[in-house]
Amino acid sequence: MQQIVKSPRLFHNCSLSFPPSSTPRRVCMSNTAVVVSSVRPYSVLPLTTDPEEKAILHRMMRVDHAGEYGASRIYAGQIAVLGRTQTRPVIQEMWDQEKKHLSKFTEILSENRVRPTALLPLWNIAGFALGATSALLGKEGAMACTVAVEESISEHYNSQIRALMEADPDRYTELLQMIKEFRDDEMEHHDTGLAHDAESVPGYWLLKNVIQAGCKAAIYASERI
Ligand SMILES: [Fe+2]
Ligand SMILES: [Fe+2]
Repeated sequence: MQQIVKSPRLFHNCSLSFPPSSTPRRVCMSNTAVVVSSVRPYSVLPLTTDPEEKAILHRMMRVDHAGEYGASRIYAGQIAVLGRTQTRPVIQEMWDQEKKHLSKFTEILSENRVRPTALLPLWNIAGFALGATSALLGKEGAMACTVAVEESISEHYNSQIRALMEADPDRYTELLQMIKEFRDDEMEHHDTGLAHDAESVPGYWLLKNVIQAGCKAAIYASERI
């Protein structure tokens, strides 16, 4: 919950808002203009003036945002095909979590003025197509896709966790906490896929390897473009 402190004397028609664990942000409104102060809003990214650190963190957030966007589109494609089956609630639950992950990264990108990858329109179509195509193989096909994608995303988050831990765990406490939480969600999705017969789809290992090669390529491209 935000704590609002009115400051009528200094800022006519203004308020100071305190999001949880954050620096106060001053928002001023008048009849003619809206002025947002330069005080930086809360973010899980630490403030930095080091261009190299900034570039690394921004690249991390860009690719994570792209990954969550792609994952969300995959589940949208699966729901489009399997939305009227008994599998819907399982897929919907995972999709809802991806939406939360995506919205957090969208917020971080916006707060830190990080541009998203230019490849989002491609991930929009490719993600949906992958989800829908895998679901056309049946529930097992959709789950095999889930296992492949979620394993790739978990490994990706694990490599980021390792890098941040090696760099400075105290400096990146909040970022690490968030990525670990998301990684755990992805591992749960992976296990859900296995529990729902992913491995019983014909050509499971081939399908999994092809999808994971695609995920690696998507990660590589989203970090750079
Ligand atoms: Fe996710
Ligand atoms: Fe996931």
